Amino acid sequence: MNTANMKIHIRGKQNLSGTVRISGAKNAALPELAATILGSSGVELHGAPLVEDVRVMIEALRNIGACTRVDGNRIGIKIPEIKSDLVPREIVQTSRASILMLGPLLARHGHARISRPGGCAIGERKIDFHLEGLCQMGAQIVEDKDHISGRVDTRLRAIHFRFPGKSVTGTENLLMAAVLADGTTVLENCALEPEVGDLIDLLARMGADIQGKGTGTLVVKGKTSLSGAEHWVIPDRIEMGTYVIAGGFAGNEIVVENARPEFIGHLLDILKRVGVKIETSGDSIRVSSGGRLYPVDVETEPFPGFATDLQAQLTTLLTQAEGVSRITETIFDNRFKHTVELQKMGADIIIDRNTAVIRGKTALTGREIAATDLRASAALVLGGLIADGETVVDNAYQLLRGYENMPQKLEQLGAEVRLVGGSHG
Ligand code: EPZ
Repeated sequence: MNTANMKIHIRGKQNLSGTVRISGAKNAALPELAATILGSSGVELHGAPLVEDVRVMIEALRNIGACTRVDGNRIGIKIPEIKSDLVPREIVQTSRASILMLGPLLARHGHARISRPGGCAIGERKIDFHLEGLCQMGAQIVEDKDHISGRVDTRLRAIHFRFPGKSVTGTENLLMAAVLADGTTVLENCALEPEVGDLIDLLARMGADIQGKGTGTLVVKGKTSLSGAEHWVIPDRIEMGTYVIAGGFAGNEIVVENARPEFIGHLLDILKRVGVKIETSGDSIRVSSGGRLYPVDVETEPFPGFATDLQAQLTTLLTQAEGVSRITETIFDNRFKHTVELQKMGADIIIDRNTAVIRGKTALTGREIAATDLRASAALVLGGLIADGETVVDNAYQLLRGYENMPQKLEQLGAEVRLVGGSHG
């Protein structure tokens, strides 16, 4: 896709109403695509989101020898043999999640070369836990300015490893390495995000023996090979939370379908404190705003706490709360770039160390602004929906990395949104 100078134009003062259906979870589909490396039979993923990060991961798998088929939201991957161990720079630059191929490639193939990613807009994205665990499993890891290379001459060996800190892809990488390791691996202080649980479900369907799903400790009995499987990807809780927040602006009333309220429980509690009306029944969430919004103090935490990936979107909503709110970012060290763009629209936000202090209620005015990362782009689109006049969000490719058909979904809710520039092919 030619993504140069792609922009999203949004007409402001739009009231949203109607129903929006949540797509499959990007952050479940990415590790699950990497998991296809572990078996030589085919894996079918149903309900996968066709977003840019997923397309890039499919390309990365094709590079190493995968036969791939994309039929709507159903992705078929079969890797009879590994033909290359290289994940090139152009892949890694777009999606850092390609580090998830390191564990599976070492487990299946014995060596891997992952190009080094560039910088990241939301802060330092360390991978020392991934590399430390793989070293303890017997891999030789060599880092130079271009690549992270790993090799293991025999089978990876089982370990007893405690994560020094919660890491979603760290947990996923070592889990995927462990399912083919020699012996029983114990991983402690694992991430509890639903996407980790969904990966466990796929691996179990492929024949892996993993105990402890939903607890912080996973016990993995290594196998010598895994079979193929079919799997349905869970709904995307960050997309879900983004649309639920959109429903919280004054005058909006929307129903979010194919939802899993328990995936965003903490956010729903926060929004009720803000004064947003929330009704959940089964897999749908009805959201409306009675008008007045109240300030809150929140901090981001690993699951089941308030998700860092929803911090920027909540910030936009809190510019409309009457009073001073504080959002403290505890996961990443630089995840406030969206506040600079919101200030250009008229928001009153100051950053005090790792806390955004938001003084509301402020009127927002449409401007030309720029998206710096995936979740920031969603926050700016939400700002554009409530601003006076037209907002143009530059670098809109960021939005397409993680939100399936967002312009179309917003139009179905009554918004005037159009994607300009860039083209497929
Ligand atoms: C995953 O990133 C998500 N990406 C991110 O979503 C999400 O923001 C993040 O988890 C936190 O929930 C995918 O799942 C593909 P971490 P990940 O390892 O795994 C430090 C989005 O918008 N750390 O849980 O890279 C790290 O620096 C993306 O979809 C180490 O110190 O995040 C960070 O401060 C953005 N050493 C914290 O832990 C390590 O080896 C959490 O990182 C690994 C991480």
